[in-house]
Amino acid sequence: MGKTLELGRPDLPQLSGALPGPKARAIIERDRAVVSTSYTRGYPLVAARGEGAMVEDVDGNRFLDFNAGIAVVATGHCHPRVVAAIQRQAARLIHMSGTDFYYEELTALAEELARIAPGGVARRVSFGNSGAEAIEGAIKLARYATGRDKIIAFYSSFHGRTMGALSLTASRAVQRAGFGPLIPGVVHAPYAYCFRCPQGRTPDTCAVECVQHIEKTILKTIAPAKETAAIVVEPVQGESGYVVPPRKFFDELARVAEQNGILLIFDEVQSGMGRTGRMWAADHFDAVPDILAVAKGVASGMPLGATIARAEIMNWPPGAHASTFGGNPVACQAALTTIALLEESLIENAASMGAYLMERLREWPERYETVGDVRGLGLMIGVELVRDRRSRERNPALRDRVVELAFERGLLILGAGENTIRLCPPLVVTREQCDFAMETIEDCLKLGMELL
Ligand SMILES: Cc1ncc(COP(=O)(O)O)c(C=O)c1O
Repeated sequence: MGKTLELGRPDLPQLSGALPGPKARAIIERDRAVVSTSYTRGYPLVAARGEGAMVEDVDGNRFLDFNAGIAVVATGHCHPRVVAAIQRQAARLIHMSGTDFYYEELTALAEELARIAPGGVARRVSFGNSGAEAIEGAIKLARYATGRDKIIAFYSSFHGRTMGALSLTASRAVQRAGFGPLIPGVVHAPYAYCFRCPQGRTPDTCAVECVQHIEKTILKTIAPAKETAAIVVEPVQGESGYVVPPRKFFDELARVAEQNGILLIFDEVQSGMGRTGRMWAADHFDAVPDILAVAKGVASGMPLGATIARAEIMNWPPGAHASTFGGNPVACQAALTTIALLEESLIENAASMGAYLMERLREWPERYETVGDVRGLGLMIGVELVRDRRSRERNPALRDRVVELAFERGLLILGAGENTIRLCPPLVVTREQCDFAMETIEDCLKLGMELL
């Protein structure tokens, strides 16, 4: 039996037996026989329903979801206004295909995304159904608009699993192994992962060598500036461990891009839609990308992706790019309601709950030998576990153990990268829920250290 704070409180976990329960076990058995073996399920959660930051499994166990369907349900599970918007739209018009016909929901969402995109410049929007598709649109548009073919991406980045997006992704070898050849023209540069600086610098001695590598080596050797269409960057690296670069990284990227006529593409699929306590992670750095890829949180769980570009760049001809389902009316309504809820209060809540969590977490590297680094913006927080503070050797075994132990106590978290715990609760999370999460992770960390 896992830990419960107060029995009967609907906003905190309550477990009623060993996990997985009998119904969950039966579904997992069936799943094993028919579902692709490529899915990575770390622990046996079989979800049945969700509300706010809580998820109930098929056996009636209630979990606190500090993962939000991998940073997707921004407004929480089944927010009543999102549900009402979906239901109203589903009863009126489910599909029409924005590729060939007009409907107001798609136009209205494009207006809203253009309005909220960073920089306050004129924007146009192309819709797809996922993060990978938003990236595919960005790659194609950058090549089309510049007439250049090379793309610079970063080591440890994750941009999705379709062939173009996968060609940029450099997160884990298993994601690429066996799928080559990928699209030509993609070159990778080191990312500003300051806790493990790829250039061996410290923040005081850093001269943004990551960007210097692009400027002085890549553009001068394998990807000449006049052939380079775009630099694609996650403003906070997601899948590789919630890594937050310093502002000067973005300043320098913008300078190099501008001086060489290279487009700057920000992948805000995971970091966007209020998660960082601002609408976009880019806003923390006053950065203005030419193209922005958006998905995950945009429609609170309905499938939707968007490629948002400076209006003058997105001038490709009819037929050049589109998707049958992209910008489906039901998903558009979910997104319009999501944006309204974010602006009304949830971005503010993400900022204040993020600060609240960080206040406690900040002390952990001092208190625990195995906590190497704590970093993040808003509700996008990474806790990197190491063998000891001095060596900083990665500790994936402890990370995995903490994630499992937390599940057994009713808290859903996932890892990111080799050895980082990722915290990305829905933006509706409360102080009490943050307290429960912190206490549980701390207990699991102590227990994990004893067990290993
Ligand atoms: C930054 C980033 N880009 C792109 C993707 C791909 O999104 P999707 O899985 O919707 O294709 C992800 C997914 O985790 C992501 O985190």
